[in-house]
Formats: sequence, C-alpha cells, structure tokens
Amino acid sequence: MPDLTETPLLLLDRDRLDGNILRMRNTLAPFDVTLRPHVKTNKCLEVTERLFEGAKGPITVSTLREAEFFFAAGYTDILYGVGIAPNKFAHAARLLEQGAALKLVLDNLQTARLLADFARDCDSSFEVLLEVDCDGHRSGIPPDSPLLVDIARLLEGSGVKVSGVMTHAGNAYDSQSRSDIEAFARQEREAVVNAAGLLRKAGFETPIVSVGSTPTALFAQDLAGVTEVRAGVFAFFDLVMAGLGVCDVQEIAVSVLTTVIGHQPEKGWVIVDAGWMALSRDQGTAKQRVDQGYGVVCDLSGRPVADLIVTAANQEHGIITSRSANPAAVQALPVGTQLRILPNHACATAAQHAGYHVLAEERRVGYWPRISGW
Ligand SMILES: Cc1ncc(COP(=O)(O)O)c(C=O)c1O
Repeated sequence: MPDLTETPLLLLDRDRLDGNILRMRNTLAPFDVTLRPHVKTNKCLEVTERLFEGAKGPITVSTLREAEFFFAAGYTDILYGVGIAPNKFAHAARLLEQGAALKLVLDNLQTARLLADFARDCDSSFEVLLEVDCDGHRSGIPPDSPLLVDIARLLEGSGVKVSGVMTHAGNAYDSQSRSDIEAFARQEREAVVNAAGLLRKAGFETPIVSVGSTPTALFAQDLAGVTEVRAGVFAFFDLVMAGLGVCDVQEIAVSVLTTVIGHQPEKGWVIVDAGWMALSRDQGTAKQRVDQGYGVVCDLSGRPVADLIVTAANQEHGIITSRSANPAAVQALPVGTQLRILPNHACATAAQHAGYHVLAEERRVGYWPRISGW
C-alpha cells in the first residue's frame, strides 16, 4: 500500500469494479435490453466512464445536480429517476434547452397537470416515464390502474410526451433466497410490461419499458418486453448485496481505510478513526440473517480479519469487536494498524467522501473525485 497514511479515506479497488461491471454486462447480454446504469452510486466521471465501452450513456441519475454534471461531460440520454417536483421544472427545462435528452418521472395527475401547464407557459417540451409500483415499495401507479391512461390522455397534445414506463423492485432487498429475488424480478417485469400494454391498447406508443435494481437485474430469468435495465450498486457491491447472496464479500470494490487509535482491552474493543462520518449510519444488514454492524473489518489487502466487525460508530470513532469475543483477534491490532472496512450500503458510504483513492493490484493509481449535493 502506498502513502495513504492520513485516514479515514475511501478506497476503490479498480479490478473489482471492472469485474463487477463485466459481470452485469455478461448477465444482461442474452437479453434484448440496454443497460442504463444508475450513477448515483458513484457520482464520478471516471467510474461512469468504465460502465460503458466507449459510449456516453444512457444513464440514470438521482438528482438534477448529477444530470447537470454528467451532461456537461457529454452524457445526453439521462433519466432522472426520482418523481419530478414543480420546483425543479425550470432546472429540467434548462437542461433540455441545452440539448440534454432528459427524461423525467411522474406518477400522479397533479404533477402531470402542473408540468403540462409549465410546458405550455414556457413553450418547452418534456419527456416523461410513468412510474409503476411493482411491489408496494414506495411510489408509483399500480400496473393495472386506469390512472396510467388518464395521465397519458391529460398530457396528450401538451408539451409533455409520455415515452414509457419505469419501475424499481425495491422490495427485492428484503429477499430471503435466490428464488425470492427471481420472483421479485418476475413481478418487476410483469408490472411494467402490463402497464405498457394498457397504454398501447389506449393508443400510446410507449417505447421505453424500464426496470431495475441490482438483485433483480442479476437474477432475472425473463426480460421479454423490457427495453432497459437500471442498476447501480452492482458496480461496487456491498454487504447488503453479499447478505442477499448477490455477490461475494471479496467482490466489494469500495472500503474505508482506517487506523487503530486505541483499545479498551477489558471490553474487547479496538477503537479506530472511522466513525459514521466515514462509514455512514447505514445499518442495512441489521435485518438480514447476519448483522454486520457498521461494516466488516479487513486487512490492508481487503481480506476479512477473523470475525471482526464495527459494532458501534460515533461521529469520528468506530468501535471494533470480535463477534465471538475472541481476545486474540483484537489484541493483534496495535495502535497505528491500518484496516479496511467494507460498507453495508456502498452508495451511503461513498456519499460521505469527496472522492475515491483508486487501487489496482494493491497500489494507489489515482484519485477520482465525486460530486455531492443537489
Ligand atoms: C429508481 C431506481 N432505479 C434503479 C435503482 C438501482 O438499484 P440498485 O441500487 O439496486 O442497483 C434505484 C436504487 O435505489 C432506484 O431508486
């Protein structure tokens, strides 16, 4: 490991990243779908570039800030995957005027009416995907609801074109088995294909049929009728994905480099300089079969150390303990020892940092900045 002495900092293993991207591309290759990766996971030009083989998109973003940033770097086909709010219409219109093929998402008549009025008043043209609720996870229109056609009819002839439907199988993250994930993938596909069918029957072309989450993208057995897959966390993977059986712990590409700053031997604690500011507060594995606390502790080469996890996180302090209260495991880590902590949720942990210290074959090969904010 090169000179990375001041911690905590975010590491990105470039070979694991490339391997994860290749796995997604190979998995989707037999299907007639486009990968529209969600770049909210990385928020970084260098990582996003590696998601494509020379192409500039298409991409999914979670903020208009990301849309703006990636558009400035040459990505034009951008889906803003969070329901649009009226206070963002003007920002979206600006991006469209500059030449972005920006697609917005909405799931209700109220937003549709407001967007149609805005488009008319400003003489702008918008493209939207109607959000479909495939599993009760959060927003969206039920796949068999007449509301889909009502919204499309309301927008007909306005400056807002309905280009398709999209859904996100968020409940797949609660799967207990591979067959659960496969069932969520079936449900996700059926929801958008049925919703697109309703719209087409009513005379709306509906060219885009968009699904996507990492678990369903990797385990879908049938994508007939789907035109694109959005997945994001697959590029990095994390402990939540490993807990679901979607990846191996050894495939997780991001980790937080931290240093041992002290011990509480009678409690079996090792104290490190990575608290929740560096790791995030995400405890996404708490409801899985194995609760990984705030992260799995690895050595400098990225291999898990005994059964150590971060069990508590203050702002700048992390507390490491052995799952089996093995005193030898914690005594072997003197002050100054550097460790790598694997994250529960890669998107949340990466968001705590300004950029990635990139490693290839255990050597530092660069620093890739991230953007943040809205
Ligand atoms: C709308 C939407 N699409 C796609 C994704 C990507 O899912 P994943 O992070 O499981 O790859 C997300 C993730 O939250 C999402 O909200």
